[in-house]
Amino acid sequence: MRLLPLVAALPLASGQLNKWAQKAGLKYYGSATDTPGFRERQPYAAAYAKYDAIFANNDEFGQTTPTNGQKWMFIEPEPGVFNFTEGDVVADLAKQQGKLLRCHALVWHSQLAPWVENTTWTPEELKAVIKRHIFGVASYYKGRCYAWDVVNEALDEDGTYRKSVFYKVLGEEYLKLAFQWAAEADPTAKLYYNDYGIERPASNKTAGAKRLVKMILDAGVRVDGVGMQAHLHADNHPTMADHMNTMQQYAALGVSELAFTELDVRIKTPGVNDTKLAWQADSYAAVAEACVRVPQCVGITIWDFYDPFSWIPAVFPDNHAAGLWFEDFTKHPAYDAIINVFKKFDNRKEIGDKPKPADDCKEGKGKDAKGKARRRSWRY
Ligand code: XIL
Repeated sequence: MRLLPLVAALPLASGQLNKWAQKAGLKYYGSATDTPGFRERQPYAAAYAKYDAIFANNDEFGQTTPTNGQKWMFIEPEPGVFNFTEGDVVADLAKQQGKLLRCHALVWHSQLAPWVENTTWTPEELKAVIKRHIFGVASYYKGRCYAWDVVNEALDEDGTYRKSVFYKVLGEEYLKLAFQWAAEADPTAKLYYNDYGIERPASNKTAGAKRLVKMILDAGVRVDGVGMQAHLHADNHPTMADHMNTMQQYAALGVSELAFTELDVRIKTPGVNDTKLAWQADSYAAVAEACVRVPQCVGITIWDFYDPFSWIPAVFPDNHAAGLWFEDFTKHPAYDAIINVFKKFDNRKEIGDKPKPADDCKEGKGKDAKGKARRRSWRY
């Protein structure tokens, strides 16, 4: 019998990301997903069957986050009137498919119901509004959320507090109260502070995130995790050492978990080419390896895996192709780059038995390769 030399040339079998991530010691590799027929997904109904089949495979994605459905404007559109229809679409899917659910997001200035912003509140009134929202939503999903993004994006680009309605009326007290109420409403969910641009070790915003989390912990209120959204840029992305250094700074505050919560790596238009895709692969691989190497990092969520469903071109028209699957359902080179990272750790680890951080994480303390301090502050 003739053996065909096919095996080496075959693409990786389908359904790999979560499987290899777990073998490397992470709890999950996941993808956010939105309500069918809504927003970015709306013009692409013809792609649903293929998309759904990839999403449903738990060897590919072991976790999900509703991209939009649990946000304030959809879930409490009028004062005290809750509508869980959209949030339930993804929560139910997670349950049916046995995926971990990260819930997103309780207190956020964006996609907020207009009535919250358009009213002039006294501090006591706004506290009651936030409390009703958190108890209304977190109690409804009680026991179903592995984690909650309790407060999202409370920092400005320079690391100071964002002047949201919550901050303007209540100052930093709203942060402590939000975590305290979330802990009361759903005692078993891991409670995260989540933000973008907090992935670099020496940025003002990273310093701001540390200050914010420390302030809440010092008040005796529980914060379990820091979520790094990681909306990254292929042409200028953090290295693995950057990610490790940053995560170690957060871990040193005493939080028990870290996660990459909204990972995507955008490419500048026009087009894609091998160079840009290689930068992108490096960026995805750096996140994967840093997460494996830092004991507190539990998992990675990509902010949808299929390029046409990504928010990036809709919000940043000069960028695209930020996910792992192209429009024709072929995969970006980053996919194999991620798998190859996880495979390096396969024989070393069991779930929950992560290697100790390596010494190579000591680089990157705010200096780039040429030793210059990094000053740029990062937007999405
Ligand atoms: C984005 C969604 O993906 C879009 O569909 C929506 O139009 C805008 O919000 N930070 C967050 C996410 O915390 O909730 C955002 O999601 C992306 C940036």
